[in-house]
Amino acid sequence: MNKARLYYWLDWMLFLSGLGLALSGFVRWFVLPGAGRGGSRGAEAVFIFTRHTWTNIHQWLALIFAGLVLLHLYLHWNWILVVTRHVFGRDKG
Ligand code: HEM
Repeated sequence: MNKARLYYWLDWMLFLSGLGLALSGFVRWFVLPGAGRGGSRGAEAVFIFTRHTWTNIHQWLALIFAGLVLLHLYLHWNWILVVTRHVFGRDKG
């Protein structure tokens, strides 16, 4: 796979995992708030999936997203160094 294709698919995965994180986070925040199990009645709240599953999805997406961010920074590390030097005045031109 050439560089352009790799960056293209990596950026799509970053976008989609970020979107999934926001979605699962907002579901946990607004649709199924509260902790863990369904309190005294024992039944777990459900919106498409159980609350517990939404938390699992959120956690796995967080790991995937963090890994992709690190990979993204690694692949663009030279760009980051060059532009940072430029912005802070060394290596002007
Ligand atoms: C719009 C973005 C986000 C929203 C609205 C959001 C919302 C929430 C909420 C409400 C919780 C607590 C409920 C739960 O435990 O499931 C939570 C927990 C958590 N979030 Fe997010 N989140 C967002 C983005 C992120 C991002 C970008 C990351 C990391 C890359 C992340 C990682 C986590 C982790 C690790 C937990 C702890 C889960 C646990 O064990 O309780 N979240 N988030």
